[in-house]
Parts: sequence; structure tokens; C-alpha cells
Amino acid sequence: MKPVTLSTLQAYKRGGETFSCLTAYDASFARMASDAGIEVLLVGDSLGMVLQGHDSTLAVTLDDIRYHTRCAAQGKGNSLLMVDLPFMSNISQERLLQNAGELMRAGAEMIKIEGESWMADGIRELSRRGVPVCAHLGLTPQAVHQFGGYKIQGRDQERADQLLADARILVDAGASVILLECVPAELGQVMRDTLEVPVIGIGAGVDVDGQILVMHDVIGVTQGRTPRFAKNFLTDADDIASAFRHYHEDVKARRFPAAEHSF
Ligand code: KIV
Repeated sequence: MKPVTLSTLQAYKRGGETFSCLTAYDASFARMASDAGIEVLLVGDSLGMVLQGHDSTLAVTLDDIRYHTRCAAQGKGNSLLMVDLPFMSNISQERLLQNAGELMRAGAEMIKIEGESWMADGIRELSRRGVPVCAHLGLTPQAVHQFGGYKIQGRDQERADQLLADARILVDAGASVILLECVPAELGQVMRDTLEVPVIGIGAGVDVDGQILVMHDVIGVTQGRTPRFAKNFLTDADDIASAFRHYHEDVKARRFPAAEHSF
């Protein structure tokens, strides 16, 4: 695989080719995912749940993310390394720019930020300074307490329209990628067809530009309830490397997600 950049993702979108993304928090799994052909790796704040054992992502600090970014950067190979801004690390424009800068110094190649249209100014400043941004919309886990749980977003027309309008505002502000979590498949498709930037989905149906999953779900080590949108690829594979390859191949062929993984 050639080095994956933002231009690669844009070219995939233009050509109608889908791409795969997976969380990675250390060098060994990052290397394995990259060798499997997975185009984008995410140092997600999901590490608060799958590595640290919390029941939400809120406890994750910038230091945690910076440490795991340094680790994953060592193994990322030619995949693009996207990194999450943790909860409340954007409480002011200055803190946002400083913290994003720290993560870019640690090895991030794109910063992912949860939030809706209120993040437009921050995204504008980051993109002016040459930081590619992925705006995460829909079910944003950092707002779990405001949502009253991990609930599907955009089921009613008003909320779906609002999410689409927010996505447009964030793209106009400079977001290079949109990540859409837990929305009806129909809204995923509308976003993909309407927005000029790549749309990555997790629980957003098959008709988006890229798919992302949490690594622990892909190899079946998630504790407790597995989300509907996830699939354990290790059950039909000999080892973790093959599970990552099957996930990548199924995304490329649009065999994953199936209807049973969508809303
Ligand atoms: O933190 C994370 O792993 C994420 C993915 C679920 C998209 O944000």
C-alpha cells in the first residue's frame, strides 16, 4: 500500500471506492492493521473503555492520547494516523490549537473532533494552520450523558436535517472528513451523496465512503454487550492478522456492514 494521505481518501471518494479504518492504540496492532491494508488508523478515545475499563470515554486525558499516539505512530506503516481530541480538550480556541498541535507533534496526521456546528470556528482555525480535521457527528460518545445513553441519532427528520446542516457548516469551515456514528443508513447515504468530503461511518450503513470499527470489537475481546454495528471477524479467521484482512476485504467489497449491522 502506498502512503495514505488526505488526497488518497479524496480520490477514493471521487472514484466511488470505499476504504477501511480501525482503531489502534499501540505499535504492534497498528503494524498488523496497516499490513492488512487498512487505510486509516484511529487513536480513539475509546481507549478509555477498551484499554482503561471505564464505561465512557470521559476519563481520557490528552496525556493518554499523546502516549498512545506515539506508540501507534511507530507501527502505522503507510496508513493515515487519525487521532481523537479527548473530552474538554477544546474548552477554548487557544487550548484547542495547543492540544491539537501536541497531538500532531506526537505523530497525528489528522485530528478528530466530536461536536456539531459550534465547533466551526475551531475547525476553521485548525485547517488554516494546516491541520486536517475529521468532524465526528451523530452519536458523539463524549456527550453520552446529554444524550441519556448510547442512542441512535437522526431517526426523526428534524434531527436528521440538523445533522446534515451541521455537517455542511463544518465542511464549509474546513473539515476534511466527516465521521458519522449510529445514524439510520438512509442518512449515511444522504451525507455521502451530499457532502464533497469523504464520509466515514460506524453504524451508518454501507452507503458511506469509509467504515470504521473499534479493534476490540473486530477481534471479539470487547467486554459486555457488543454494539449492533460491530462484527467479530476472528470467529472465521485463523488469527488476528487474518481477521483484520477479512474486515478490510469485506469493507472494500461492501460486504460489511450488512443490514443486520445497520439501523
Ligand atoms: O474513539 C473511537 O474509537 C471512535 C470510533 C468509535 C469512531 O471515535
